[in-house]
Amino acid sequence: MSIQKQFITVFSLAAGLVVTSCNSVNADQPKISIMPQPKEITSVNGEFVLTPTTTIGVSESALLPAANYLANLLSASTGYTLKVTEGKGDINLKIEAAATSTEGAYDLISSNKSVTITAADYEGVINGMQSLRQLLPHQIESKTAVDGVKWAVPAVTIKDAPRFEWRGLMLDVSRHFYSAEEVKELLDLMSLYKLNKFHWHLTDDQGWRIEIKQYPLLTEKGAWRTFNSHDRDCMKRAADQDNSDFNIPAEKLRVVNGDTLYGGFYTQEEIRDIVNYAGVLGIDVLPEIDMPGHFLAAISEYKGVSCSDQPGWGAIFSSPVCPGKETALQFCQNVYSEVFQLFPYEYVHLGADEVEKTNWKKCPDCQKRMKQQNLKTEEELQAWFVKDMEKFFNANGKKMIGWDEILEGGLSETATIMWWRSWHPQSIPTATANGNKAIASPNAALYLDAQQDKKSLQSVYDYEPTATVQSKEQKDLIMGVQANIWCEWIPSRERMQFMAMPRMLALSEIAWVNPEQKNWDGFKNKMLTQTERLDVLKVNYRIPDLEGFHETNAFLDETELEVTCLDPKVEIRYTTDGSTPTAESTLYTGPVKVTKTTNFTLRTFGVNNKKGDIVKTTFVKSPMYPATEAEVSKSGLEAVWYDYRGSKCEEIVKATKKGTYAISEVKIPEEVKGNIGLDIQGYFNAPTDGIYTFALLSDDGSILSIDGVTVIDNDGPHAPVEKVGQTILAKGLHPIRVLYFDSNGGTLNMKVYDPSGTELAAEELYNY
Ligand code: ACM
Ligand code: ZN
Repeated sequence: MSIQKQFITVFSLAAGLVVTSCNSVNADQPKISIMPQPKEITSVNGEFVLTPTTTIGVSESALLPAANYLANLLSASTGYTLKVTEGKGDINLKIEAAATSTEGAYDLISSNKSVTITAADYEGVINGMQSLRQLLPHQIESKTAVDGVKWAVPAVTIKDAPRFEWRGLMLDVSRHFYSAEEVKELLDLMSLYKLNKFHWHLTDDQGWRIEIKQYPLLTEKGAWRTFNSHDRDCMKRAADQDNSDFNIPAEKLRVVNGDTLYGGFYTQEEIRDIVNYAGVLGIDVLPEIDMPGHFLAAISEYKGVSCSDQPGWGAIFSSPVCPGKETALQFCQNVYSEVFQLFPYEYVHLGADEVEKTNWKKCPDCQKRMKQQNLKTEEELQAWFVKDMEKFFNANGKKMIGWDEILEGGLSETATIMWWRSWHPQSIPTATANGNKAIASPNAALYLDAQQDKKSLQSVYDYEPTATVQSKEQKDLIMGVQANIWCEWIPSRERMQFMAMPRMLALSEIAWVNPEQKNWDGFKNKMLTQTERLDVLKVNYRIPDLEGFHETNAFLDETELEVTCLDPKVEIRYTTDGSTPTAESTLYTGPVKVTKTTNFTLRTFGVNNKKGDIVKTTFVKSPMYPATEAEVSKSGLEAVWYDYRGSKCEEIVKATKKGTYAISEVKIPEEVKGNIGLDIQGYFNAPTDGIYTFALLSDDGSILSIDGVTVIDNDGPHAPVEKVGQTILAKGLHPIRVLYFDSNGGTLNMKVYDPSGTELAAEELYNY
């Protein structure tokens, strides 16, 4: 019997929205919420229901790993034992030479009788399987049998294909270590959301994590350390923020000769096992042994690798590999020879970021190499090293990827760049103009270790990977997009998941979905549905932000604290004595009347004992500040640039002054680059009496004061963070001052809203 095609076709434009059944489909059919959004879903009446006799059939034996993965997943939660067979089953996984040439594309057809996933390649079948998983009720994720659930797959036809071939996620296991099981859990999540490249940052100054048989000290010694400043910071945060996710996990400690050492590493056998596990999930593993910089864990253990083996010869933290020494080059190649054997993927990442080259200037071997090779600068020496390693990679059948520093001193014709330095927006344009491939991974949007706030999820979602180039030829050279999790301040699985989720969902959308299909509100709805799935998976995602207030809120007589959370399932609790809210603190049940200056501390509590961020908001009972009678002659503001290298706004003006600039609004003057300390002053011209709202975004720190009163304190070293504050002003001029610093270019921007909440244009706001 064929299904009546009373279908609705939900095309891509509605695609960001949860695809709901419309009136031609049974109203009690479940909502369809697949992340990332499929290109096309046609929903029809009917459903396929899993039963104890459901079978999974494969068209060829190469699909057995995928089928077994699916059978295990479905069997665990349903309590049935799904059988896998070669040939036809109830759920069918098929490889067929397809019309589409896009790797990873698939079709999924479900009906009352069967489910069929067809793709041209293994990865496509996996992608279809992950869509099937998301069509099932979220309890399907349970590791133990769940009773009373109807395991129904709504009848649909999905035609789907990824936008990008590279949908990557990087994990730094050097700064903090993650066990094989923890890595596999991340791989499971990646595959669930159709991310297909796992970039494994295996070595760095703080720890060597991969067994290299020829150099056993790399892991015997290099994988272990006494607590460093990152560990101590984490432990302090655990206490300060009442957050056990910052604790150093006990299983990563061992005591040797009375010293507590932190660390761990993967044996070659474990690496093979993880790579194999990733392969089953359709994920390629890209290893990175970062060199010539970030190599201290190796340099400390073996002689002949750095410019000098004498500690104190140069600041040890600035010691890279010595490209002047044959022994060093041989060491690097020997390490990679073993790496190549462990990772079947054709690409390998050399790192090559942030190389501190001071020692190369002083090293006779480096200088000799430069003379021999006719290299004029240390940047060219770095490029020579990278190209030398690339020849070795290629001779071993591997293609090289490096961070975008490999552009400096001359890029090879064949290397792929991974752009991370947002403050070098020319990296992808330059590389692709040269014909090189590129992967977009800019730190400003895609570093998942950056603190989360109200803007951070949307800033991933809004990121457009091809934005820096215009021509089709150059856009076609962008393989895709990747987010990175650097783990200096991420010591545990729980913290790692908290930082990755839900931003990883936004990553999956921008990696998969075409820009015209994107829909922010639809994405947020789908995210909420996904959190139910993540709850069953016991993933420690970050609860959405509390909204309805600013960091600082000004009022004249009385006001209310009114709080909302996108996720209605959470409890909101608060204190007013500065203490951190606990599960026993006052429960927020509705607007709280405020009649005097009050500091609120809020925290959300979710399922699985999940605690949200600690959120502080101050309600300031304030006078209306009178305007001043100032003599002003120019519009705009005056910015003084100081050569400031520190991390506190109040110290900026003690540094050496470099110049004075007129600016039309609060921003970094065009001429100002490098080490920046800015003191911006002038008058803010309030158009009417009332409460003004200021949103100050900076990377790193900034402070806004008006009428000599601090309105926003966004001080300290940090990635882009926006803080919002208010003050009450009478119509007219008010002295304004913004202090700002950053050590490598950064971001500074301020928006102003009038008492009605309308954003004011910058042109007429300022005078000096
Ligand atoms: C990097 O963040 N140093 C690639
Ligand atoms: Zn040297």
